[in-house]
Amino acid sequence: MTEGKQHVQRVFSGVQPTGNLHLGNYLGAVRNFVRLQDDYECVYCIVDLHAITVRQEPETLRRSIRELAAAYLACGVDPQRSAIFNQSQVSQHAELGWVLNCIARMGWLNRMTQFKEKAGKDREKASVGLYDYPVLQAADILAYRATHVPIGEDQKQHIELCRDIAAKFNNDYEVEDFFPLPEPLIQSAAARVMSLRDGSKKMSKSDPSDASRINLTDDADQIAKKIRKAKTDPEPLPDTVEGLEERPEARNLVGIYAALNDQSVEAVVTEFAGKQFGTFKPALADLAVAKLGPIAEEMQRHLADLSHIDEILAKGAERAEAIAEPVVREVYDVMGLLRTR
Ligand code: TYM
Repeated sequence: MTEGKQHVQRVFSGVQPTGNLHLGNYLGAVRNFVRLQDDYECVYCIVDLHAITVRQEPETLRRSIRELAAAYLACGVDPQRSAIFNQSQVSQHAELGWVLNCIARMGWLNRMTQFKEKAGKDREKASVGLYDYPVLQAADILAYRATHVPIGEDQKQHIELCRDIAAKFNNDYEVEDFFPLPEPLIQSAAARVMSLRDGSKKMSKSDPSDASRINLTDDADQIAKKIRKAKTDPEPLPDTVEGLEERPEARNLVGIYAALNDQSVEAVVTEFAGKQFGTFKPALADLAVAKLGPIAEEMQRHLADLSHIDEILAKGAERAEAIAEPVVREVYDVMGLLRTR
């Protein structure tokens, strides 16, 4: 593991503009983006080139990119401090993606579990982009020589792949420490927020049931209804954290409460020990409404001024390019790609 000695401590992360942000995205990733701004130079991307690995309707995609920008802002990502932009406006992502395609090995990509999940049974019909997706993700991170990557648990394997690609480049071209090996930053309390309908599946934008997730745009009634209907078991809440072990739905709801309220799971278990879900669920609903309501409002406020959002994305792209452009040039030089201008 490198210490990233000569590298600026820099955070990079991204979210796909494919539908609403949900509570898993927020607690697992975006909330952490906001906190990291205090200590790091941060680059936060709307990864539209990743979104097109599956077919997107152009108008919907354009709208989703701006909505995700509004969601970043509403959650507290600050464009004065962090670069906020969409990936396709900074060509270095795609350029470095190609270079890294020539470094990454087929065998490495064949092990990626997310491709297997997303491609489903008919793998022959998946786009080449979907297969290659983790290499573009590595390019996203390495174009900025990012040292830290805040993500949910499901992205960990992709960051490990990015480290392998970075190490192979450094090694093959004998440029020690050219790329830092980025560290994943995973929030333990909400690393994997699960579906409200099935405690064994992660909360996901692609779940056909909207009741399985809380969207950041849901209103108070929708949030309360989804929590009321969330799957649980018939037992009261336990008095120890261990008592949650074989109870995935209960563990998920307690975990959400703890994360939303910035408490430990122990503290929540102590508070609600022996209580029925009939007591716990309304408390969770009130908490969720109190924390998420202001975000939904802020998001609407930002969406009322699309030209402001576009300006932020344009400035963010300029800032991002100023970091990534010299890195990609250096990569070309190291590899012997001749530049005459
Ligand atoms: P995406 O768009 O699927 O998700 C965005 C972020 O939300 C996290 N997340 C969750 N965390 C906890 N519980 C859940 N149920 C949950 N669902 C999603 C994800 O882990 C992620 O951090 N490939 C990435 C986007 C990407 C990226 C990058 C991330 C592209 N390039 C470079 C980091 C660095 C993705 O599809 O995330």
